[in-house]
Amino acid sequence: MTTPPSPTARVLLAIESSCDETAAAVIDENLAVRSNIVASQTAIHSRFGGVVPEMASRAHVQRILPVIDEALVTAGVQLADLSAIAVVTHPGLVGSLLVGLTAAKTLALVLDKPLIAVNHIEAHLYACRMHAGYDIFPAVGLVVSGGHTNLYDCPAATGFELLGSTIDDAAGEAFDKVAAILGLSYPGGPSIQAAARNGSPTAFRFPRTFLKEASRLEFSFSGLKTAVLYMVAGKPPGEYDPASLAPQYVADLAASFQEAVVDVLVGKCVQALQESGRRTLCVGGGVAANVRLRQRLDEVARAEGFTLVVSPLELCTDNAAMSAVAWELLAQGRIANLDLDVSAGLVRKR
Ligand code: KG4
Ligand code: ZN
Repeated sequence: MTTPPSPTARVLLAIESSCDETAAAVIDENLAVRSNIVASQTAIHSRFGGVVPEMASRAHVQRILPVIDEALVTAGVQLADLSAIAVVTHPGLVGSLLVGLTAAKTLALVLDKPLIAVNHIEAHLYACRMHAGYDIFPAVGLVVSGGHTNLYDCPAATGFELLGSTIDDAAGEAFDKVAAILGLSYPGGPSIQAAARNGSPTAFRFPRTFLKEASRLEFSFSGLKTAVLYMVAGKPPGEYDPASLAPQYVADLAASFQEAVVDVLVGKCVQALQESGRRTLCVGGGVAANVRLRQRLDEVARAEGFTLVVSPLELCTDNAAMSAVAWELLAQGRIANLDLDVSAGLVRKR
Protein backbone atom coordinates (compact mmCIF):
# COMPACT_ATOMS: atom_id res chain seq x y z
CA MET A 1 0.00 0.00 0.00
CA THR A 2 1.46 3.38 -0.97
CA THR A 3 0.61 6.40 1.14
CA PRO A 4 0.06 9.52 -1.02
CA PRO A 5 2.23 12.46 0.08
CA SER A 6 0.55 15.37 1.84
CA PRO A 7 2.16 18.79 1.22
CA THR A 8 1.69 19.83 4.87
CA ALA A 9 3.03 16.65 6.51
CA ARG A 10 6.29 16.86 8.48
CA VAL A 11 9.29 15.17 6.83
CA LEU A 12 12.45 13.56 8.15
CA LEU A 13 15.74 12.57 6.52
CA ALA A 14 16.94 9.01 7.15
CA ILE A 15 20.50 7.85 6.56
CA GLU A 16 21.60 4.20 6.26
CA SER A 17 25.18 2.93 5.86
CA SER A 18 25.24 -0.22 8.00
CA CYS A 19 26.71 -2.56 5.39
CA ASP A 20 27.39 -2.04 1.68
CA GLU A 21 24.56 0.26 0.58
CA THR A 22 24.88 4.02 1.03
CA ALA A 23 21.30 5.20 1.36
CA ALA A 24 19.22 8.24 2.23
CA ALA A 25 15.48 8.80 2.15
CA VAL A 26 12.90 11.43 2.95
CA ILE A 27 9.75 10.04 4.56
CA ASP A 28 6.79 12.01 5.85
CA GLU A 29 4.93 11.47 9.10
CA ASN A 30 2.20 9.54 7.26
CA LEU A 31 4.93 7.13 6.06
CA ALA A 32 4.78 8.35 2.46
CA VAL A 33 8.22 7.82 0.91
CA ARG A 34 9.16 11.11 -0.81
CA SER A 35 12.56 9.78 -1.96
CA ASN A 36 14.57 6.60 -1.46
CA ILE A 37 18.10 6.74 -2.85
CA VAL A 38 20.41 3.71 -2.64
CA ALA A 39 23.98 3.66 -3.97
CA SER A 40 24.86 -0.02 -4.14
CA GLN A 41 28.44 -1.23 -3.74
CA THR A 42 27.79 -4.61 -5.38
CA ALA A 43 30.24 -3.86 -8.19
CA ILE A 44 33.01 -3.19 -5.64
CA HIS A 45 32.51 -6.34 -3.56
CA SER A 46 31.33 -8.87 -6.17
CA ARG A 47 34.80 -10.12 -7.11
CA PHE A 48 35.41 -11.02 -3.46
CA GLY A 49 32.10 -12.92 -3.12
CA GLY A 50 31.15 -10.87 -0.05
CA VAL A 51 31.46 -7.45 1.57
CA VAL A 52 35.01 -6.22 2.35
CA PRO A 53 34.50 -3.94 5.38
CA GLU A 54 37.36 -1.48 4.78
CA MET A 55 36.36 -0.99 1.13
CA ALA A 56 32.74 -0.51 2.20
CA SER A 57 33.62 2.32 4.62
CA ARG A 58 35.71 4.11 2.02
CA ALA A 59 32.93 3.87 -0.56
CA HIS A 60 30.43 5.24 2.00
CA VAL A 61 32.68 8.28 2.57
CA GLN A 62 32.72 9.01 -1.18
CA ARG A 63 28.99 8.58 -1.65
CA ILE A 64 27.23 9.77 1.47
CA LEU A 65 26.93 13.48 0.62
CA PRO A 66 25.80 13.02 -3.02
CA VAL A 67 23.26 10.42 -1.86
CA ILE A 68 21.84 12.77 0.81
CA ASP A 69 21.70 15.60 -1.74
CA GLU A 70 19.85 13.42 -4.21
CA ALA A 71 17.36 12.31 -1.57
CA LEU A 72 16.56 15.94 -0.70
CA VAL A 73 16.36 17.11 -4.33
CA THR A 74 14.16 14.15 -5.39
CA ALA A 75 11.81 14.83 -2.48
CA GLY A 76 11.77 18.56 -3.26
CA VAL A 77 12.74 19.29 0.33
CA GLN A 78 15.21 21.82 1.79
CA LEU A 79 17.35 21.03 4.84
CA ALA A 80 15.40 23.64 6.79
CA ASP A 81 12.12 21.75 6.12
CA LEU A 82 13.29 18.65 8.00
CA SER A 83 11.75 17.80 11.37
CA ALA A 84 14.42 15.26 12.34
CA ILE A 85 17.53 13.40 11.19
CA ALA A 86 17.39 9.61 11.60
CA VAL A 87 20.39 7.32 11.28
CA VAL A 88 20.98 3.58 11.59
CA THR A 89 23.47 3.04 14.43
CA HIS A 90 23.32 -0.76 14.90
CA PRO A 91 23.81 -3.57 14.08
CA GLY A 92 26.28 -3.51 11.20
CA LEU A 93 29.90 -2.91 10.22
CA VAL A 94 31.37 -0.35 12.61
CA GLY A 95 33.44 1.50 9.99
CA SER A 96 30.41 1.72 7.70
CA LEU A 97 27.97 2.79 10.42
CA LEU A 98 30.33 5.58 11.53
CA VAL A 99 30.12 7.27 8.14
CA GLY A 100 26.34 7.59 8.31
CA LEU A 101 26.44 8.60 11.96
CA THR A 102 28.98 11.36 11.34
CA ALA A 103 26.88 12.79 8.52
CA ALA A 104 23.71 12.61 10.63
CA LYS A 105 25.29 14.18 13.72
CA THR A 106 26.73 17.03 11.65
CA LEU A 107 23.35 17.79 10.09
CA ALA A 108 21.54 17.55 13.44
CA LEU A 109 24.06 19.90 15.08
CA VAL A 110 24.21 22.47 12.29
CA LEU A 111 20.45 22.51 11.67
CA ASP A 112 19.53 22.12 15.34
CA LYS A 113 17.20 19.18 14.59
CA PRO A 114 16.45 16.11 16.73
CA LEU A 115 18.74 13.13 16.06
CA ILE A 116 17.14 9.68 16.12
CA ALA A 117 19.08 6.38 16.42
CA VAL A 118 17.51 3.58 14.39
CA ASN A 119 18.00 -0.17 14.86
CA HIS A 120 18.54 -1.70 11.39
CA ILE A 121 16.59 -4.84 12.38
CA GLU A 122 13.56 -2.85 13.55
CA ALA A 123 13.77 -0.90 10.29
CA HIS A 124 13.71 -4.11 8.20
CA LEU A 125 10.46 -5.16 9.91
CA TYR A 126 9.02 -1.65 9.76
CA ALA A 127 9.10 -2.06 5.96
CA CYS A 128 6.26 -4.58 6.53
CA ARG A 129 4.32 -2.01 8.59
CA MET A 130 4.77 0.60 5.86
CA HIS A 131 3.54 -1.85 3.23
CA ALA A 132 0.51 -2.91 5.25
CA GLY A 133 -0.69 0.64 5.82
CA TYR A 134 -1.89 -0.23 9.34
CA ASP A 135 -0.27 -1.13 12.67
CA ILE A 136 0.64 -4.81 12.20
CA PHE A 137 2.02 -5.31 15.73
CA PRO A 138 2.00 -7.42 17.91
CA ALA A 139 3.61 -9.97 15.61
CA VAL A 140 6.32 -12.53 15.20
CA GLY A 141 9.08 -11.07 13.01
CA LEU A 142 11.67 -12.84 10.87
CA VAL A 143 14.63 -10.79 9.67
CA VAL A 144 16.45 -12.79 7.06
CA SER A 145 19.35 -11.15 5.27
CA GLY A 146 23.05 -11.40 4.48
CA GLY A 147 23.98 -10.64 8.08
CA HIS A 148 21.00 -11.94 10.07
CA THR A 149 18.54 -14.77 10.44
CA ASN A 150 16.65 -13.75 13.55
CA LEU A 151 13.19 -14.52 14.89
CA TYR A 152 11.61 -11.94 17.20
CA ASP A 153 8.59 -11.45 19.32
CA CYS A 154 7.47 -7.95 18.37
CA PRO A 155 4.90 -6.54 20.83
CA ALA A 156 5.12 -3.14 19.06
CA ALA A 157 7.03 -1.42 16.25
CA THR A 158 10.11 -1.07 18.46
CA GLY A 159 11.55 -3.08 21.34
CA PHE A 160 11.68 -6.65 20.05
CA GLU A 161 12.58 -9.76 22.03
CA LEU A 162 14.96 -12.16 20.27
CA LEU A 163 13.42 -15.65 20.11
CA GLY A 164 16.21 -17.33 18.16
CA SER A 165 18.86 -16.75 15.54
CA THR A 166 21.44 -18.56 13.46
CA ILE A 167 24.32 -20.20 15.27
CA ASP A 168 26.61 -19.83 12.24
CA ASP A 169 25.89 -18.43 8.75
CA ALA A 170 22.94 -16.17 8.00
CA ALA A 171 20.60 -17.45 5.30
CA GLY A 172 21.67 -14.73 2.83
CA GLU A 173 25.30 -15.52 3.52
CA ALA A 174 24.56 -19.17 2.67
CA PHE A 175 22.94 -18.05 -0.62
CA ASP A 176 26.05 -15.97 -1.38
CA LYS A 177 28.51 -18.77 -0.53
CA VAL A 178 26.58 -21.49 -2.36
CA ALA A 179 26.35 -19.23 -5.42
CA ALA A 180 30.17 -18.99 -5.37
CA ILE A 181 30.41 -22.81 -5.09
CA LEU A 182 28.12 -23.15 -8.12
CA GLY A 183 29.91 -20.48 -10.15
CA LEU A 184 26.91 -18.11 -10.00
CA SER A 185 27.21 -14.33 -9.62
CA TYR A 186 27.17 -12.22 -6.43
CA PRO A 187 24.89 -11.48 -4.64
CA GLY A 188 23.92 -15.12 -4.55
CA GLY A 189 20.23 -14.80 -3.65
CA PRO A 190 18.99 -13.45 -6.97
CA SER A 191 21.32 -15.69 -9.03
CA ILE A 192 20.36 -18.88 -7.16
CA GLN A 193 16.69 -17.95 -7.48
CA ALA A 194 17.14 -17.49 -11.25
CA ALA A 195 19.05 -20.78 -11.68
CA ALA A 196 16.52 -22.65 -9.50
CA ARG A 197 13.72 -21.79 -11.94
CA ASN A 198 15.01 -24.49 -14.30
CA GLY A 199 15.82 -27.01 -11.60
CA SER A 200 14.07 -29.58 -9.43
CA PRO A 201 13.76 -28.86 -5.69
CA THR A 202 13.76 -32.61 -5.01
CA ALA A 203 16.78 -33.54 -7.14
CA PHE A 204 19.06 -33.57 -4.07
CA ARG A 205 18.12 -34.08 -0.44
CA PHE A 206 19.99 -31.52 1.63
CA PRO A 207 19.89 -31.19 5.45
CA ARG A 208 17.16 -29.16 7.17
CA THR A 209 19.11 -28.41 10.35
CA PHE A 210 17.02 -28.11 13.58
CA LEU A 211 13.74 -28.28 11.59
CA LYS A 212 12.49 -31.30 13.51
CA GLU A 213 13.90 -30.08 16.85
CA ALA A 214 10.86 -28.56 18.49
CA SER A 215 12.95 -27.44 21.48
CA ARG A 216 14.96 -24.87 19.51
CA LEU A 217 14.12 -21.77 17.54
CA GLU A 218 17.63 -21.55 16.11
CA PHE A 219 18.99 -21.87 12.60
CA SER A 220 22.20 -23.31 11.14
CA PHE A 221 23.10 -23.03 7.46
CA SER A 222 26.79 -23.86 7.56
CA GLY A 223 26.27 -27.63 7.23
CA LEU A 224 23.93 -27.10 4.29
CA LYS A 225 26.56 -25.02 2.49
CA THR A 226 29.18 -27.74 3.11
CA ALA A 227 26.75 -30.42 1.89
CA VAL A 228 26.39 -28.55 -1.41
CA LEU A 229 30.17 -28.21 -1.69
CA TYR A 230 30.74 -31.95 -1.15
CA MET A 231 27.98 -32.79 -3.60
CA VAL A 232 29.57 -30.58 -6.26
CA ALA A 233 33.23 -31.34 -5.87
CA GLY A 234 34.24 -32.91 -2.62
CA LYS A 235 37.05 -30.38 -2.84
CA PRO A 236 37.72 -26.93 -1.37
CA PRO A 237 36.69 -23.92 -3.50
CA GLY A 238 39.57 -23.02 -5.82
CA GLU A 239 40.43 -26.67 -6.48
CA TYR A 240 37.72 -27.24 -9.06
CA ASP A 241 36.29 -25.17 -11.90
CA PRO A 242 32.66 -24.12 -11.25
CA ALA A 243 32.40 -23.05 -14.91
CA SER A 244 32.71 -26.72 -15.92
CA LEU A 245 29.47 -27.69 -14.10
CA ALA A 246 26.57 -28.66 -16.39
CA PRO A 247 23.77 -26.03 -16.37
CA GLN A 248 21.06 -28.57 -15.46
CA TYR A 249 23.18 -29.89 -12.57
CA VAL A 250 23.64 -26.32 -11.28
CA ALA A 251 19.90 -25.63 -11.66
CA ASP A 252 18.98 -28.78 -9.70
CA LEU A 253 21.49 -27.98 -6.95
CA ALA A 254 20.25 -24.37 -6.76
CA ALA A 255 16.60 -25.45 -6.53
CA SER A 256 17.33 -28.17 -3.95
CA PHE A 257 19.45 -25.80 -1.82
CA GLN A 258 16.83 -23.04 -2.00
CA GLU A 259 14.09 -25.48 -0.99
CA ALA A 260 16.08 -26.61 2.06
CA VAL A 261 16.58 -23.00 3.23
CA VAL A 262 12.91 -22.16 2.64
CA ASP A 263 11.70 -25.31 4.45
CA VAL A 264 13.65 -24.34 7.56
CA LEU A 265 12.68 -20.65 7.51
CA VAL A 266 8.98 -21.43 7.04
CA GLY A 267 9.01 -24.24 9.62
CA LYS A 268 10.63 -22.10 12.30
CA CYS A 269 8.25 -19.19 11.66
CA VAL A 270 5.28 -21.50 12.20
CA GLN A 271 6.89 -22.84 15.39
CA ALA A 272 7.48 -19.29 16.68
CA LEU A 273 3.86 -18.35 15.98
CA GLN A 274 2.61 -21.43 17.81
CA GLU A 275 4.86 -20.87 20.82
CA SER A 276 4.19 -17.14 21.13
CA GLY A 277 0.46 -17.27 20.39
CA ARG A 278 0.84 -14.35 17.95
CA ARG A 279 -1.40 -14.39 14.88
CA THR A 280 0.65 -12.11 12.60
CA LEU A 281 3.97 -12.88 10.93
CA CYS A 282 6.11 -10.17 9.35
CA VAL A 283 9.17 -10.97 7.27
CA GLY A 284 11.87 -8.54 6.13
CA GLY A 285 15.48 -8.39 4.91
CA GLY A 286 17.18 -9.18 1.61
CA VAL A 287 16.21 -12.89 1.55
CA ALA A 288 12.53 -11.89 1.98
CA ALA A 289 12.75 -10.94 -1.71
CA ASN A 290 13.01 -14.64 -2.56
CA VAL A 291 10.05 -15.67 -4.69
CA ARG A 292 9.94 -19.27 -3.45
CA LEU A 293 10.05 -18.14 0.19
CA ARG A 294 7.23 -15.65 -0.41
CA GLN A 295 5.15 -18.32 -2.15
CA ARG A 296 5.65 -20.90 0.61
CA LEU A 297 4.90 -18.33 3.35
CA ASP A 298 1.73 -17.40 1.55
CA GLU A 299 0.62 -21.04 1.34
CA VAL A 300 1.30 -21.75 5.01
CA ALA A 301 -0.39 -18.51 6.15
CA ARG A 302 -3.54 -19.56 4.33
CA ALA A 303 -3.37 -23.13 5.66
CA GLU A 304 -2.69 -22.07 9.27
CA GLY A 305 -4.92 -18.97 9.23
CA PHE A 306 -2.41 -16.33 10.34
CA THR A 307 -1.87 -12.88 8.86
CA LEU A 308 1.28 -12.57 6.76
CA VAL A 309 2.95 -9.26 5.94
CA VAL A 310 6.12 -9.53 3.86
CA SER A 311 8.28 -6.51 3.12
CA PRO A 312 7.57 -5.05 -0.34
CA LEU A 313 10.29 -6.04 -2.82
CA GLU A 314 11.70 -2.51 -3.09
CA LEU A 315 12.24 -2.37 0.70
CA CYS A 316 13.70 -5.89 1.23
CA THR A 317 17.38 -5.17 0.64
CA ASP A 318 19.02 -2.37 2.61
CA ASN A 319 17.51 1.09 2.14
CA ALA A 320 16.88 4.21 4.22
CA ALA A 321 13.11 4.48 3.68
CA MET A 322 12.44 1.66 6.14
CA SER A 323 14.06 3.87 8.81
CA ALA A 324 10.67 5.58 8.88
CA VAL A 325 10.45 3.67 12.17
CA ALA A 326 12.15 6.86 13.45
CA TRP A 327 8.69 8.50 13.52
CA GLU A 328 7.68 5.98 16.21
CA LEU A 329 10.85 6.76 18.19
CA LEU A 330 10.29 10.51 17.85
CA ALA A 331 6.74 10.09 19.17
CA GLN A 332 8.19 8.21 22.16
CA GLY A 333 10.58 11.14 22.76
CA ARG A 334 13.63 8.99 22.07
CA ILE A 335 15.93 11.73 20.85
CA ALA A 336 19.65 10.93 20.90
CA ASN A 337 22.47 13.09 22.21
CA LEU A 338 25.47 14.08 20.12
CA ASP A 339 27.61 11.53 21.99
CA LEU A 340 25.62 8.80 20.20
CA ASP A 341 27.84 5.87 19.13
CA VAL A 342 27.49 2.94 16.74
CA SER A 343 27.48 -0.74 17.67
CA ALA A 344 28.27 -3.84 15.62
CA GLY A 345 25.89 -6.00 17.64
CA LEU A 346 22.15 -6.17 18.10
CA VAL A 347 22.15 -4.03 21.24
CA ARG A 348 23.04 -0.35 21.07
CA LYS A 349 25.94 0.88 23.17
CA ARG A 350 24.82 3.44 25.75
O1 KG4 B 1 19.14 -6.97 3.85
P1 KG4 B 1 20.32 -7.02 2.95
O2 KG4 B 1 20.38 -6.04 1.79
O3 KG4 B 1 21.65 -6.81 3.73
C1 KG4 B 1 21.87 -7.22 5.04
O4 KG4 B 1 21.37 -6.52 5.98
O5 KG4 B 1 22.54 -8.27 5.16
O6 KG4 B 1 20.41 -8.53 2.41
C2 KG4 B 1 21.35 -8.94 1.44
C3 KG4 B 1 21.22 -10.45 1.27
C4 KG4 B 1 22.31 -11.07 0.38
O7 KG4 B 1 22.89 -12.15 1.07
C5 KG4 B 1 21.54 -11.54 -0.85
O8 KG4 B 1 22.08 -12.70 -1.46
C6 KG4 B 1 20.16 -11.83 -0.26
O9 KG4 B 1 19.97 -10.79 0.68
N1 KG4 B 1 19.10 -11.78 -1.28
C7 KG4 B 1 18.35 -12.86 -1.62
C8 KG4 B 1 17.50 -12.44 -2.68
N2 KG4 B 1 17.76 -11.12 -2.94
C9 KG4 B 1 18.75 -10.73 -2.07
N3 KG4 B 1 18.34 -14.11 -1.13
C10 KG4 B 1 17.48 -15.00 -1.69
N4 KG4 B 1 16.66 -14.68 -2.72
C11 KG4 B 1 16.64 -13.44 -3.24
N5 KG4 B 1 15.81 -13.13 -4.26
ZN1 ZN C 1 19.83 -5.36 6.21
